[in-house]
Amino acid sequence: MRDWHKRDVHINPDRPKCALYDCSLWGHAMVGAEENPHPVAMLVGEAPGQEEEESGFPFVGKSGRELTMYLRDFTRVPRNRFFILNLVNCRPPKNRDPLRGEIVICSSHLLVALGEIEPRIVGTIGRLSTQWFLGRGIPMEKAHGMVFERDGRIVVPLYHPAYGLHSPRRMKEIIEDFVVLGEVIRGERGVTVGCEIAPMYAQRIAGDGAR
Ligand code: URA
Repeated sequence: MRDWHKRDVHINPDRPKCALYDCSLWGHAMVGAEENPHPVAMLVGEAPGQEEEESGFPFVGKSGRELTMYLRDFTRVPRNRFFILNLVNCRPPKNRDPLRGEIVICSSHLLVALGEIEPRIVGTIGRLSTQWFLGRGIPMEKAHGMVFERDGRIVVPLYHPAYGLHSPRRMKEIIEDFVVLGEVIRGERGVTVGCEIAPMYAQRIAGDGAR
């Protein structure tokens, strides 16, 4: 059953609509990427919200304004030096998390961007994005503060800025993640979990069979 929802915002009819037919978000207005052809890193969020849907660009709403500040103040790299996009390009109904099937289908956009840009460093914003890169068994609390190497890329998990807005007491962890990203970009910090040993440690990181 397709998950159509009533639109509560006016979307410019000229905005491109998604044509990935098997996705429940098929026919919705798509949000593209904030592109930099030679970024210091790629940042991958989860899904657009209302303001992103209206503007056509990722992270332009409340979370986006937080993101811009965290990059400037903690990562110490201005936002325009990044390539920014989301796992899914359309806004899910009622701002729910994108469904697994939607992510599988829509992340073809992300695969194309990864292939074209070939970022050496990827900052994964939020749980869904982090798990897309590192595997579904890895919770944010365990991935937090670590630097992974996967498929020839360095992956830095970042708590989602929305998390800081809803849980101000988690700001310390959020700041730490963005600081780590800056250190990785400047070459001041290396990989914590390398690709060879990652599967062995993945279970422990996920909390299964930890000793
Ligand atoms: N949250 C996301 O994950 N992406 C956006 O573009 C906006 C908010």
